[in-house]
Amino acid sequence: MDSIAVVGGNTLNGTVDVSGSKNAALPILFSTLLADGVHQFENVPQLRDIDSTELLLSALNCDIERASHSMTVKVTPPGKPEASYDLVRKMRASILCLGPLLARYGEARVSLPGGCAIGSRPIDLHVQTMQRLGAEIEVEGGYVIAKAKRLQGEQILFERVTVGGTENALMAATLARGTTVIENAAKEPEIVDLVHYLQSMGARIEGEGTSVITIEGVDELVPSTHRIVADRIEAGTLLIAGAITGGCVTVNQCVPSHLQALIDKMRECGFSIHTDEKSVSVDAADEWIGTDVATAPYPSFPTDLQAQFMVLMTQATGTSVITEGIFENRFMHVQELVRLGANITPMAQVAIVRGEPGGLSGAKVMATDLRASACLVLAGLVAEGVTTVNRIYHLDRGYELLERKLAGLGADVKRVS
Ligand code: EPZ
Repeated sequence: MDSIAVVGGNTLNGTVDVSGSKNAALPILFSTLLADGVHQFENVPQLRDIDSTELLLSALNCDIERASHSMTVKVTPPGKPEASYDLVRKMRASILCLGPLLARYGEARVSLPGGCAIGSRPIDLHVQTMQRLGAEIEVEGGYVIAKAKRLQGEQILFERVTVGGTENALMAATLARGTTVIENAAKEPEIVDLVHYLQSMGARIEGEGTSVITIEGVDELVPSTHRIVADRIEAGTLLIAGAITGGCVTVNQCVPSHLQALIDKMRECGFSIHTDEKSVSVDAADEWIGTDVATAPYPSFPTDLQAQFMVLMTQATGTSVITEGIFENRFMHVQELVRLGANITPMAQVAIVRGEPGGLSGAKVMATDLRASACLVLAGLVAEGVTTVNRIYHLDRGYELLERKLAGLGADVKRVS
């Protein structure tokens, strides 16, 4: 079991490149199931979740070749359109093979994902969408079993914004008969990147990035090539790493407009942030003020940066109120931060952070989910002494060599096996 040891106190300075987006790459890789042949991708991040996706696609008769950040997926029809429990339990996003398999083969058998640390995270909206598009669905033995001769285009209104639900609906609708209109669709940049790939495969889609997306079903799609968009969550995490240490850091190869909610909040705290075409920079600051934040669907403040921003607020002057508006249990990092000396009072969906600059001291802490593990590494950068973050397999799911990127900026951080 690897862990990461951080010695606090160094100021981070310099430039760091962001990798491709995990949350764009996953749906795009599953969308390859919609078209036989060779799909080619660049800027694919090297992550455990990509490894899990490769295992699942291989089990569905795909041949995959990876070299550095390139990936080739050769799709051929699977023996059985099925995603087994031992693969799905490793990664909830496996549910994203439901729409493509059902649309392409008229059937799919996908294991229920089970809960996860940040909440129950049901898939009821995914299932309802497939039923809306004409599928017969039953749940048996822990599997969703879906059948449809051919999906029929429909009006879909999501009762709440769901990124994965929107992605499954989009992929299924590309091969449905007739027109599908998705209302209250998610607007995340990862949705837009998925649509760009689907369009390059011949899908007829309009409205991506807005809450109404229209899809004209076609009979067939063809494989294509694509460069995965930059990971806005990794970019935000690295920007906060520079800010919290009082350093001057430039995050390169990112899309500044995808980070607007974070940039606005950091400016509200008093940070001086500059943006260029493909980079965001934070100037050195020796103090910042606490500010409130509430997570909500894009373009509002992302839930995936909530834990990282909370750490920044533990070092602010003044109090911050942090509201988690997406998941019902995404304060698992709070108790670990309290063990480092943070002054945080968690309530149901709200955490009160009383800032105490320099108030953290190193300890052994435990990661519980992907973004919580990142926030504990950030806390270690400013905690006095050594902070050891255990269970960092969570980190490796969504960050490509984070410790090397931080060390490249001057952090005293290393992986300990
Ligand atoms: C995606 O998860 C991301 N994962 C998450 O990132 C991200 O936190 C989340 O979107 C919100 O932005 C990937 O893209 C692989 P949702 P997803 O469906 O699609 C509820 C990370 O750290 N809901 O938008 O699962 C759900 O429980 C991960 O990279 C239902 O009730 O999120 C949640 O409360 C963590 N029924 C809310 O909706 C459903 O059928 C939003 O979930 C589906 C979701």
